[in-house]
Amino acid sequence: MLSPRIESIRLFGRIRCVAGLFASICASSASAAAAVENLSVFSPATQSATSIRDLFVLVLAVSGVILLLVEGLILYCVWRFRRQRGDQHEPPQIYGSTPIEVAWTVAPLLTVFVLFLVVVRSVTEVRGQSPPADSLRVIVIGHQWWWEYVYPDLGIRTANELYLPTSADGKPLAVSLELQAADVIHSFWAPRLAGKTDLIPGRTNHLWFDVPAEGVYLGQCAEYCGTQHANMKLYVAALPPEEFRQWQENELKPAAVAADADIGRQRFLSLACINCHTIRGTPAAGRVGPDLTHLMARHTLAAGAAPNDPAHMRQWIANPDTLKPGSHMPNMHLSPTDLEAIVAYLLTLN
Ligand code: CUA
Repeated sequence: MLSPRIESIRLFGRIRCVAGLFASICASSASAAAAVENLSVFSPATQSATSIRDLFVLVLAVSGVILLLVEGLILYCVWRFRRQRGDQHEPPQIYGSTPIEVAWTVAPLLTVFVLFLVVVRSVTEVRGQSPPADSLRVIVIGHQWWWEYVYPDLGIRTANELYLPTSADGKPLAVSLELQAADVIHSFWAPRLAGKTDLIPGRTNHLWFDVPAEGVYLGQCAEYCGTQHANMKLYVAALPPEEFRQWQENELKPAAVAADADIGRQRFLSLACINCHTIRGTPAAGRVGPDLTHLMARHTLAAGAAPNDPAHMRQWIANPDTLKPGSHMPNMHLSPTDLEAIVAYLLTLN
C-alpha cells in the first residue's frame, strides 16, 4: 500500500537540518528532493500556514527595508564624512537635534504598531476560530521519542504516521489535533501545515488546520525533549478518501496471524516486549512504546530514524542504540535465532 511514498522515506531519513529558518531556506532551495523533503514555511499547504507565511514575508520585508536604510546611512556617513588628507581639525560636536530625535522615535513606534496589528490579525486567523464541527479529531501524544496518534471517533490508535483523508467533494475537511505529552514538553511542527504548538504534560493544547492536498508533509519535534529530539520526526500523509478508507479498515483489524511466523510470535509474547508494546489480538498490551499491530503499514522505524525494512528492523531490535542512541527501547540481548524469529513475526504485521 502507498508504494510511491516509500521512496520518500529514504529522503526522510536524511533530513537533519530542521530546527528553524535555516531549515526552511535550505529546504526551499533544494529542488529535486523538494517535493517530499520540503519543510519550508515559504510553501504553505493550508490556510493556516498561508497566514503564517504572509506574516513572515511582511515582517521580513519591513525588517529588510529598515536594515538597508540603517546600514546604508551608516556606510554613506562613514564614506562621506571620512577624515580628509591633511585635515587636523576636530569636526563640530553637535548635541541633540529635536527633529531627528522625534523622527527616530515616532517612525519605529509606528512601524512596531502596524506590525502589532498585523500580528493580531494573523493570530486571529490561525487561532481565533474554533475548528469546523465536522473536523477529524486526532489526539496526539508526544513521547520520548515518538508520536502516538489516537483517532477517538474512528477507534484507531497508531504511531508516528498521521493519516488524513482529503475530501471527496472538494470542500476542505479540517483536522483538529488535541496535543498532549506523556513525559516532557514536545512541539508539533509541520511547517507546511501549521505553526508550531507545544505538547505539555498535564494539559491539552489545540491545533487545527484544513487537510492539505494529497501528499506527504514532513515535520519535526520543535522543542528540545532529550537525547533523541532530532529523531522525533513527523510524517503526515493526506490520502484520497478511498485510500484513507482502506488504511482505516486495515488499522481496525487485529494483528495478522501467520502460521509460519508462529515461533517468532511465541518468542515475542514470552519476552518483556509486551510490557511496552501493544499488538492487538495478542496479550501484548503495553503502552510505553508504539502500537505494533500494523507495524508494516508504516514507512519508518523509531519515529523516522530509519526506513522500515528487514535489515533496519533487525538492527533496531538487536541493539537499539546503534540506530537511535539513548532511546528507551532496551537491548534484549536476543540470541540470533530468536532475533530472526521475532523479526520474521514483526514483518507479518501489515
Ligand atoms: Cu520531542 Cu523534541
